[in-house]
Amino acid sequence: MLTQAPKGTRDMLPQDAYLWQHVEGKMRALAAKWGYREVRTPVFEHTELFLRGVGGTTDIVTKEMYTFLDKGERSITLKPEGTAGAVRAFIEGKLYNEALPCKMFYLNAPIFRYEKPQAGRLREHHQFGMECFGGKEPTVEAELINGLMTLLTELGLKNLSVHINSIGCPNCRPTYHEKLKEYLGDRISNMCPTCQERFEKNPLRILDCKEEKCKEIVKDAPAIIDCLCDECRSHFERLQALLSAQGIPFEVDSRIVRGLDYYTKTVFEIIMQSGREGLALCGGGRYDGLVKELGGPDTPAAGFGIGTERILMELKNAQEEPDAPSVTDVYVANLGAEMAAPAFTFCQQLRQMGVKADCDLAGRSLKAQFKFADKIGAKYVALVGGDEYERGVIKLRDMVTKEEKELALDAAAEEIAKLF
Ligand code: HAM
Repeated sequence: MLTQAPKGTRDMLPQDAYLWQHVEGKMRALAAKWGYREVRTPVFEHTELFLRGVGGTTDIVTKEMYTFLDKGERSITLKPEGTAGAVRAFIEGKLYNEALPCKMFYLNAPIFRYEKPQAGRLREHHQFGMECFGGKEPTVEAELINGLMTLLTELGLKNLSVHINSIGCPNCRPTYHEKLKEYLGDRISNMCPTCQERFEKNPLRILDCKEEKCKEIVKDAPAIIDCLCDECRSHFERLQALLSAQGIPFEVDSRIVRGLDYYTKTVFEIIMQSGREGLALCGGGRYDGLVKELGGPDTPAAGFGIGTERILMELKNAQEEPDAPSVTDVYVANLGAEMAAPAFTFCQQLRQMGVKADCDLAGRSLKAQFKFADKIGAKYVALVGGDEYERGVIKLRDMVTKEEKELALDAAAEEIAKLF
C-alpha cells in the first residue's frame, strides 16, 4: 500500500520525462503559432462551478468528481475537466475587457475523474486544452481542428479521423428533446435507471449512456442534426466547407453528444482507428452559453481538450516514440579519492561550457566509475589524476572506439565542448 500509487494514477518516471517534454514542446509550439497564450488555474475549484458549468446530470458530476469539504467547510472539487476553470478565470480576470477573441491554452493540467481505470482511462490524467473566447464564427472550430490535426500528425500519428456533429442551441434543442422523448416513449421503461431519470431532466444525455441495452435502443433515435434551426445549420455547413477547403477529411457523426452539458452547436472528437473502441484521443466543441451561465457577459466560445497519456499510449502503439536523448555525454572519473576535488572542478568547467557532464558522487573505485559511466551511456570518460595530472594533462577516452587522447588541462574543457 505504502509503495503503491493510488489506483488509476501513474508516476512519470525520470526515464520517461523526455517523452512528455517532446509532446509538450510540440503543444507549446502549436499554441504559439496559433496565437494562444498560456493560462494556469488552480487544481481545485468551488464544487458549484462544475455543477453549474459541466451540468448536474452528467456522469462527470454525478459519479466521477473528487469532492470534499475543506477545513472551512467549503465544498471543493479537484478539476474534473479544464474548461470551467478557464471560463472562471476569464470572468474573474475581466479578460472580456481586453481585445477579443481572447485565446488561451493550458498544458498538462491535472484532471481528476473517479472512473474505472483501464488502458487510456485514468483517475488522474493530464490535458492540453485550447480555449477561444469571443469568436462566434465557425473559423474558430476550424482553427482548433486544424491545430489538433497538425499536432497529432507532427507527432507521427496516423489513421486519425475527425468526427463532427452539431447539437444545436437553446432555440432548436427543445424541439429535438420533444422528438427524442416521443421516440423513447414506451422504450424508456427498458432503459437503465439513470436514463429514466434523465428522460425528464436532460434527455440529450440519454444518447451518452454507456449501458449496452440503452445504446441498442438509442441507435435508431432521431438525429439532432435533422432538427437544427437555420442559424445552427448554416454554422455547421460553413464549418464543413472550411474543413473541406483545408483538405481535412471529416465524418459527420450524429452519435457524438459529448459528456458535458455546456456545448452548443459544434461538437467534435478525433479518433485513432488503431485505438481502443470508444476512446477518443481528443474532444471539444463550442460552448456559447457558458460564460454567461457562470456570471460573465454573453461571450461565444469554443475549445478542445486532449489527454497527454492517451497521446503517449498511441505514440507507443505506433512505435513513434523519439529516441531518448543522452543524459550524460562526459563522465569525469577520478583516479583516487585525493583526485575527487579536481575532478569535480573539471566537471563544473565542462557544465559551464554547456557540456552534459557528471562525476563521482559515491566515492567509487576507478573500475566502478567506469562501470557507472558505461551504464549511463556516457560517450566519453575524462580521467583526472595520475602522472598525466602532474604533467598538466587529462586523458579522454572515447567509450565507443576506446581511443584515448591527452588534452592540456587548461584547454581541455574548451576542446571537449567542441565535440558536441
Ligand atoms: P473530454 O472529452 O471529457 O473533454 O476530455 C478530453 C480528453 O481528455 C479526452 O479525449 C481524452 O484524451 C482525455 N481524457 C478524458 N478522460 C480521461 C481519463 N479518465 N483518462 C485519460 N485521459 C482522459 C473535456 O474535458 C472538455 N473540457 C474538452 C473541451 C475543452 N471542450 C471545450 N474545451
